[in-house]
Amino acid sequence: MNFFRSCENANHSEEKLLRYRVGQRLVHAVLATSFLMLLFSGLMVLWPPLLLWVRSVAPEISPGLIHRIGAVLFVAVPILYLLVDRCGARQLLVESFTYDKDDIEWLKHAWRYFMGHAVGMPPQGRLNAGQKLHHAGVVIFSATVVFSGLALWFGKGYLGPAGLALAATIHGLSMLVLTVLLVGHLYFTFVYKALSAMTTGYVPKEEAMIEHPKWVEELEHQSASGKSF
Ligand code: HEM
Repeated sequence: MNFFRSCENANHSEEKLLRYRVGQRLVHAVLATSFLMLLFSGLMVLWPPLLLWVRSVAPEISPGLIHRIGAVLFVAVPILYLLVDRCGARQLLVESFTYDKDDIEWLKHAWRYFMGHAVGMPPQGRLNAGQKLHHAGVVIFSATVVFSGLALWFGKGYLGPAGLALAATIHGLSMLVLTVLLVGHLYFTFVYKALSAMTTGYVPKEEAMIEHPKWVEELEHQSASGKSF
């Protein structure tokens, strides 16, 4: 597996398919860590009892510093993604905002998937329609949380009280939406036992054929024609 050259999925055995290359897993780890740093340090600032409780265990903790370090890491995520796996980053962006009629059908039956029944769902590609919506939401609300955060960090001398209040409102609401998305993301990760896709990079082919048959077909077609992507 090449760390920098990307979108090469030829490295899979009979039973397992490579779903996330090492660069993608690294980027996801930075994204998840920085987001959790931002969330918990932000909550400590907003809700003093939490800060008091945390300080009773770790008296030196500085939520402001954790928030700024988390913010720098969070902003670095897209740059890191482009550096380590440009093709994966492009694929994630394009697929998250592209929906076909199978996706629409899938969304109509999303409640079945929510209840843990993947068998019989309309056929999906590498990402199912729910994942596409989640990832698109992450892209959009990460952008609003970053721009409003930059305004709060560097705009104090320029923005008046109304501007700062607007930035704080957008910042808080964006973080709220991202947190709701994270709860759903974790729910599906554990209901469909998907964590190993992000830790090892591989998924069992049998499961992928149920959940992402169009993706498996595409991989088979590409390996039959000797093409890596
Ligand atoms: C903190 C615990 C987290 C866990 C356990 C987790 C788990 C996972 C798993 C298992 C996948 C692969 C799903 C699949 O394809 O079957 C995934 C992908 C993804 N997750 Fe998370 N996630 C976490 C946090 C986050 C956070 C905080 C965000 C965004 C703010 C996020 C955004 C994403 C995105 C965008 C992908 C697609 C990655 C790509 O295609 O490169 N995750 N996550």
